[in-house]
Amino acid sequence: MAEVVLKGIEKVYPNGFKAVHGIDLHIKDGEFMVLVGPSGCAKSTTLRMIAGLEEITGGEIWIGDKCVNTLPPKHRGIAMVFQNYALYPHMTAYENMAFGLKYQKTPKDEIDTRIKEAAEKLEITDLLDRKPKEMSGGQRQRIAVGRAIVRKPEVFLFDEPLSNLDAKLRVALRVEIKQLHNQLKQEGSTATMVYVTHDQVEAMTMGDRICVLDYGRIMQVDTPLNLYHKPKNKFVATFIGAPAMNIMEATLFKDEDRVCIKLNEDILYLNEKMADKVKDHIGEKVYFGIRPEDIKLSSSDEEHRKNVVTGIVEVVEQMGNEEIIYFRIKDRQYIARQEPNMRGLTLGEMEKFYIDMDKCHIFDYETESNISI
Ligand SMILES: Nc1ncnc2c1ncn2[C@@H]1O[C@H](COP(=O)(O)OP(=O)(O)OP(=O)(O)O)[C@@H](O)[C@H]1O
Ligand SMILES: [Mg+2]
Repeated sequence: MAEVVLKGIEKVYPNGFKAVHGIDLHIKDGEFMVLVGPSGCAKSTTLRMIAGLEEITGGEIWIGDKCVNTLPPKHRGIAMVFQNYALYPHMTAYENMAFGLKYQKTPKDEIDTRIKEAAEKLEITDLLDRKPKEMSGGQRQRIAVGRAIVRKPEVFLFDEPLSNLDAKLRVALRVEIKQLHNQLKQEGSTATMVYVTHDQVEAMTMGDRICVLDYGRIMQVDTPLNLYHKPKNKFVATFIGAPAMNIMEATLFKDEDRVCIKLNEDILYLNEKMADKVKDHIGEKVYFGIRPEDIKLSSSDEEHRKNVVTGIVEVVEQMGNEEIIYFRIKDRQYIARQEPNMRGLTLGEMEKFYIDMDKCHIFDYETESNISI
């Protein structure tokens, strides 16, 4: 068993700065858990505390059935992969991968077998004789992952391993790491992985579950789809998804017997289920949230429809498979995302946009928690 359990973890740095404010997180055996959040939210601090590279000032960390609070890194059964590879420059790839094992006095044949197996998995067999400076960034990072694999750790810890690589390579390697996780699991090896990134796309595509952090606190822990469709608060709603969810200040009110919100001159009606959820907030100021793909240019024959807003088209980005329309209502810009429309848009013209109210989110103005789920 190699689950990782964080119980009320806190970190106060020697200068008195409190970076982590009581994190509770249960990472299951074999799970791929991603820690994501903006710069400075304490992703690395949290990971380094799991690794034992950073002292814990409060709480407990359990790996498997051991509380590891005072255990040095080498006895925790972990292997870490860093953003900057951290390979020894004077050693070949092979020697880099062998180094930790030699230190543990693993027999030579065993080391050789493990390195060859890992090299095959990562397709780096041809690189084993090269030194780091003779390799590209992507190749170096494969070696660094290989060095982690040969140690057969119970838990892999990754701190932004792909952020030094160009966009294309990043995508390729993120697929490889995910495949490696599946492969190790199928082989029956323990493959609990904790992966830190600030990139929400990486988080969404790689994580079995994702832990979203902000200022050293957990905002939500959930599967990628739940984070996307049921964000617990405004922070998660706007952090996950690109382009980001449109958020606007609005007031909930009742128009005859329907709950609605007013956006400039236009009125948007909540469906019955959502109206029921937010009924205690009628008359209050709230945040209204709607994802770009849930706003569509309204064609003329739909003009009688409800839930339509009027805005001025400012920018249209053509992506080929979709187009992103930036439009303005009064002093705010909104983003719509849809299949390319053939009629062509004129910048500066007024257009009507249909809002799919079944997909909207309502957030409490004070607590910013989602009151519509
Ligand atoms: N040694 C230190 N002493 C004091 N404060 C620190 C120290 N190391 C980090 N911090 C602070 O703790 C907070 C969390 O830092 P951390 O490096 O964990 O963030 P992060 O989420 O990994 O950010 P990034 O995405 O930029 O890598 C930051 O505000 C940082 O300035
Ligand atoms: Mg970091």
